[in-house]
Amino acid sequence: MPDSNRQWRVADYPGPDQPISKAHFAWVSEEVPEPAEGEFLVQTAYLTPIPAQRGYLDNKQSMFLGESLPLGAVMRGRGIGKIIESKHPDYSPGEIFVGSLGWQDFSIQRPLGNDFIFSTRKITKPHAPLSLHMGILGQAGGTGYFGLLEGGQIKAGDNVLISAAAGGVGSVAGQIARIKGAQKVIGITSTDKKCAWLCNELGYTAAINYKTENLDKKLAEYFPEGIDLFLDSVGGNILNTALKYLAMHARVAIGGYISTQYSSASSIGPGNYYNLLFKRARMQGFVYFDYWDRYDEAEQVLSKWYDEGQLINTEYLIEGLENMPTALAGLFTGRNRGITVCKVN
Ligand SMILES: NC(=O)c1ccc[n+]([C@@H]2O[C@H](COP(=O)([O-])OP(=O)(O)OC[C@H]3O[C@@H](n4cnc5c(N)ncnc54)[C@H](OP(=O)(O)O)[C@@H]3O)[C@@H](O)[C@H]2O)c1
Repeated sequence: MPDSNRQWRVADYPGPDQPISKAHFAWVSEEVPEPAEGEFLVQTAYLTPIPAQRGYLDNKQSMFLGESLPLGAVMRGRGIGKIIESKHPDYSPGEIFVGSLGWQDFSIQRPLGNDFIFSTRKITKPHAPLSLHMGILGQAGGTGYFGLLEGGQIKAGDNVLISAAAGGVGSVAGQIARIKGAQKVIGITSTDKKCAWLCNELGYTAAINYKTENLDKKLAEYFPEGIDLFLDSVGGNILNTALKYLAMHARVAIGGYISTQYSSASSIGPGNYYNLLFKRARMQGFVYFDYWDRYDEAEQVLSKWYDEGQLINTEYLIEGLENMPTALAGLFTGRNRGITVCKVN
């Protein structure tokens, strides 16, 4: 076992419109910590960067994400790893653990249960590779699953629109929508290559390049009968435009708003919100952790679809803890295709 614990610590806060980068973190190394009574030591195998992690460097308390991190703190982030040493009666060396491991090789953990952000799980039947538990069987899969089933109340025959479709959540959600019997599933993403991938590999009916195509016209073309369900991770102009094309009794499930989340521009909106009235539609926020007590259900269903070959896990694999800052930054520039996973050990 290595005798040092490499870590990324918070070194600086990015301003509201500033892209996050390596410069906001300090790379340090310290001794591997010793667990006290009731604790155990976990060696990180994989971490996943997600857009919400940028919020930990916001220099203010975020109502959504829990407290932001002080300068000098180990960067927070969820991961999967192996228990190396334990002073807790229910956790044994060799067992696989998912939780808030932080951007580091080793962490001291306790079974915190269902606390928001710090929810933990022991994986009793690990899938190979372990990274699947950070992908379709992890946060991306769970968010797509509960976002569509609970946030969006998906029904067979729905015409579905998904933004950030080629990202982690979107790449799983489009497939789940298809499995649940959607009539059509249209994705929105940033390049023609990603559009082709959505249609050819993931079973999306069609895809719109929001950077080069006229979104308004394309939505009118693809949804002559209206959008029944919109799973939105982007907000801003994409949300405003989609609201114009809702079908009667449409459901808009809000999972994120990456286009404006870290911007200082005042956001007035949503535009076209009156269509919620005209179409007796509803807009519903959802957070994956709210369904943590139903996680076994999601894992069982998603594993079954994966084993049957109905669901593809697409990893955007980053090698090495040292590349975590670049991996997080890449989510804001669309560098990833599929679920970003960082292999640490
Ligand atoms: N509610 C929940 O429980 C929950 C849980 C996890 C994640 N989320 C949210 O779900 C969303 C996706 O998360 P993820 O972890 O799966 O990340 P991701 O989709 O893998 O990465 C983010 C993607 O967003 C797109 N994007 C970035 N900036 C954009 C912009 N200005 N306009 C349009 N698209 C933009 C990029 O793809 P393109 O190439 O298409 O631009 C990028 O790949 C995020 O908003 C996140 O906060 C919510």
